[in-house]
Amino acid sequence: MRDTWYPVLESKRLGRRPVGLTRLGRRLVLWRDAQGRPVAQEAACPHRGADLSRGRVVNGCLECPYHGLRFAAEGACVRVPCDGDARPIRADLRVKGYVVREGLGLVWLWWGEEREELSPLPWSQELPEAGAGACTATLTWNVPFARVMEGNLDLHHFPFAHRRWAPGMGTLLDPYTARLEGDVIHTRGVLREDDGKPWNGRSGFVAEIRVLFPHLVLLHFGELTRAMAVATPIDAENTWVVFRYRSGLPLLGGLVAWFLVRTEVRLIQPEDYALLRDSEPRHPAREDFHLVRADAGIALWYRLYERRLEAQRRTLPPAPAPTAASG
Ligand code: FES
Ligand SMILES: [Fe+2]
Repeated sequence: MRDTWYPVLESKRLGRRPVGLTRLGRRLVLWRDAQGRPVAQEAACPHRGADLSRGRVVNGCLECPYHGLRFAAEGACVRVPCDGDARPIRADLRVKGYVVREGLGLVWLWWGEEREELSPLPWSQELPEAGAGACTATLTWNVPFARVMEGNLDLHHFPFAHRRWAPGMGTLLDPYTARLEGDVIHTRGVLREDDGKPWNGRSGFVAEIRVLFPHLVLLHFGELTRAMAVATPIDAENTWVVFRYRSGLPLLGGLVAWFLVRTEVRLIQPEDYALLRDSEPRHPAREDFHLVRADAGIALWYRLYERRLEAQRRTLPPAPAPTAASG
């Protein structure tokens, strides 16, 4: 999905040394300039293609590990050691860069057309902040992006896929609503015993999920606890996911968030991962499914996805094939 901010790295992982990673099908190098601002550029050196993430930052510029060419944050080559400092540098010797911003303890990359006025970081008021009271974990999954988002919108898998952690949880999802408001999918459902009666307003497990299309998920548990899951494609087959819990409990909030993240990442998510990784086809269209009433949120997501892909196809030249995954 173009024209979207995607998180690509936790802020705290970006220090003095350049970091190499693959996101959105590109091999990237991330580093910080002299002011500490994050920079994201293509990792292949424009000279002869060495991996710039093996280089170092010198005087606020990125130095290639191979022949020492240096690149400024805006991409221009500022030094060619073998030519000496007196010789002019050819103007086409530039590294391609991406617009990045920092917020909520994450480095976000603008994936789309570079414009004067970019939209602000998405949902920066809604998503739980990093820091005291919060805990964050990141996962790399061998699951395509759309499948990850499908899993994030699924409520009725819980009593089956996670039955070990929810013994006796009801399997009827009722009431259940899914609606679209702008780019936000709102779903709310109650998992309860199928007692043949309308819901009494008390029984069962109430869950509320909001998704800011395409990749931001917000969950509420009671008054105090919020969780987010954000997905960024690594390439066509792999996805990077950030989980964060924040608890408003006085003093113990951080501990609660830590416990919830550990439970999620160690116990719950591996069960989802195994199912999503092996689901076929890996790149489904809506017609490949036989969706039921409880999948209404997923149906909305795929409808938006297909509509946007179609709109992008009409306006964009064909994208180059994504590179293979690593890290
Ligand atoms: S490949 Fe980077 S300086 Fe030669
Ligand atoms: Fe799950």
